[in-house]
Amino acid sequence: MIISLTGFMGCGKSSVAPVLAGKLSCFYFDLDDTIEMEEGRSIPEIFEKDGESSFRLLELEYLDRIISDFDGFPTTMVLSLGGGTVMTPLCAEMVKGKTFCVYLKASCDELVGNLQETGTEGRPMLGGEGKLRSKVENLMAQREGTYEKTAHLVLDTDGLTPEEIAERIIENLPQTLL
Ligand code: S3P
Repeated sequence: MIISLTGFMGCGKSSVAPVLAGKLSCFYFDLDDTIEMEEGRSIPEIFEKDGESSFRLLELEYLDRIISDFDGFPTTMVLSLGGGTVMTPLCAEMVKGKTFCVYLKASCDELVGNLQETGTEGRPMLGGEGKLRSKVENLMAQREGTYEKTAHLVLDTDGLTPEEIAERIIENLPQTLL
């Protein structure tokens, strides 16, 4: 089974994935990293040259490929999704139907704090004019319902370290995945 991690940019998906995989002694994949590696271009380059809709198609294509390639494996794998992946209905359908999806739910305060720390250069959805906080709040308002609806497990992660988040996920995994 694939354990997928969803949630807004800056919620810690990419930091939690390797920690969780370490604790479960399994592999992990990062959808964004896979797209960048396979396409030989960074996400900002893809957005700039081909636009957001092309990036969304790539997300769908690589998500489908990762899930299909893993199909039938008797082990577990952790997959960190992009913050907007589940906003594409076909991606959400795949994530819901073929993975055990965990929503790392963070408050806008926490997200803005994390994004200020890491910087937003590699995140075209947060580029351009305007205040980071209002961009986060606006996008979050559009996305929150979809994160909640797609996930099998919703975890409040404010104030938790990746280590603690990984532990909470494991505590809440269905027995069949352990
Ligand atoms: C996006 C989130 C990014 C990346 C792309 C688009 C989004 O991933 O997929 O920049 O629409 O929220 P992270 O959530 O890992 O930053």
